[in-house]
Amino acid sequence: MGCQYFAPCDHGSDSFTIAIPKVTFGRGCLSEVGERARSRGMARIAIITDVFLNASEHLARVRGSLDASGLDHATFDDIRIEPSDTSVMDAARFLADGDFDGLVSVGGGSVMDTAKAAMVYARYPASFSTYFGPPVGDGVPVPGPVLPHIACPTTSGTGSEVTGLAVIRLMEHDTKFVIASRFILPDEALVDPACTDTLPARVVASTGFDLLSHAIECYTAKAYTHWGKVSSPDARPMIQGANPWSDIHAREALRIADAFLERGVADAGDREARDKLMWAATLAGMAFGNCGTHLPHAFSYGVTNLMHDVVTDDYPVPSPFVPHGISVILTSPSVFRFTAEGAPERHLEAAGCLGADTRDAANADAGEVVSKRIIELMRATEIPNGLEGVGFTGGDADALADSSFRQRRAIGNAPRETTRDDTADIFRDAMRYW
Ligand SMILES: [Fe+2]
Repeated sequence: MGCQYFAPCDHGSDSFTIAIPKVTFGRGCLSEVGERARSRGMARIAIITDVFLNASEHLARVRGSLDASGLDHATFDDIRIEPSDTSVMDAARFLADGDFDGLVSVGGGSVMDTAKAAMVYARYPASFSTYFGPPVGDGVPVPGPVLPHIACPTTSGTGSEVTGLAVIRLMEHDTKFVIASRFILPDEALVDPACTDTLPARVVASTGFDLLSHAIECYTAKAYTHWGKVSSPDARPMIQGANPWSDIHAREALRIADAFLERGVADAGDREARDKLMWAATLAGMAFGNCGTHLPHAFSYGVTNLMHDVVTDDYPVPSPFVPHGISVILTSPSVFRFTAEGAPERHLEAAGCLGADTRDAANADAGEVVSKRIIELMRATEIPNGLEGVGFTGGDADALADSSFRQRRAIGNAPRETTRDDTADIFRDAMRYW
């Protein structure tokens, strides 16, 4: 099946490229940061984190490790969840003024993505839309290397520590958009599951569904052979479609989510579950950083842009706010009902990895089988019941479609063609699931 999915195609790409940082995984590895920074030649380090983590034991460990290695450091912590152009530019000024020769980011996706983007604007100043893709950005490639970067994730979902992608909210265009460049791929990732021990259950649920959706989206993405050939090796995008590398990581991340997502949410003391979810997040990151996500992530930006009437506990941010993983998973069952037609076997295989019984399933059942299993997991972890659960109504479907439809590359990474009207129908079908 896998080989057939990647069968050569007229005018299609015949190669794929994999890029990942050096990865260290394990309880306690955060304490290695000082020695790792020193061995990379860093002497004056920018620590990028958020205000809550800045007062945490994790940052105390990072500073202690850098001090023990004799390294100078200064901290920027003015980062919001859902980073915006203004917060990135503030961080860029901090970097430009600080004479740093290395960066350590400690936090979730918002922190790591801000760090990646800020390093670009600190070294290659430009108007903010310059390095974002069209239609909201100018599509200018990041010109060259940025500071050496050691990324230390503190949540088990984003996978940003192993990707060359940064998702930022552009206030002028009222949408999130992506900077994608091999130059913002971190040099190292220190993945310490002990950082997740104190995460609230709701945060583990949201980030867990983020990783789960990264994995299914990669497994069901358009095959890389169905994207066009590139004009030069450097022009090959990271959002290059499903490939044998992303398959391996996506399958394993889904198996782990099946076995450990409910446990990790239900019991903060279940260290095995939290360790496994952290590993799955990194695996899913290694998949989507070399494949790209598709419709659930593209559509989540519409959800984030237009949310207006929702209060979310457990996050230190003002309302309205929908955590990223929730904004992604709320459309996923509806999306996969639609996309299954384009790659039914792959949807069934993904569902099987996620614990669904697929023995008697026919290709025509694929969308329903995978969406049913996702809905089971949503109910078991008390996720809102579709978009109505976060304040939307069917009347919002067209606006959600218009807002989301700007994510061209991600929409093109789906396994079947998706029109703007299809998008509105998918949103209508995502309002309520049970
Ligand atoms: Fe995500």
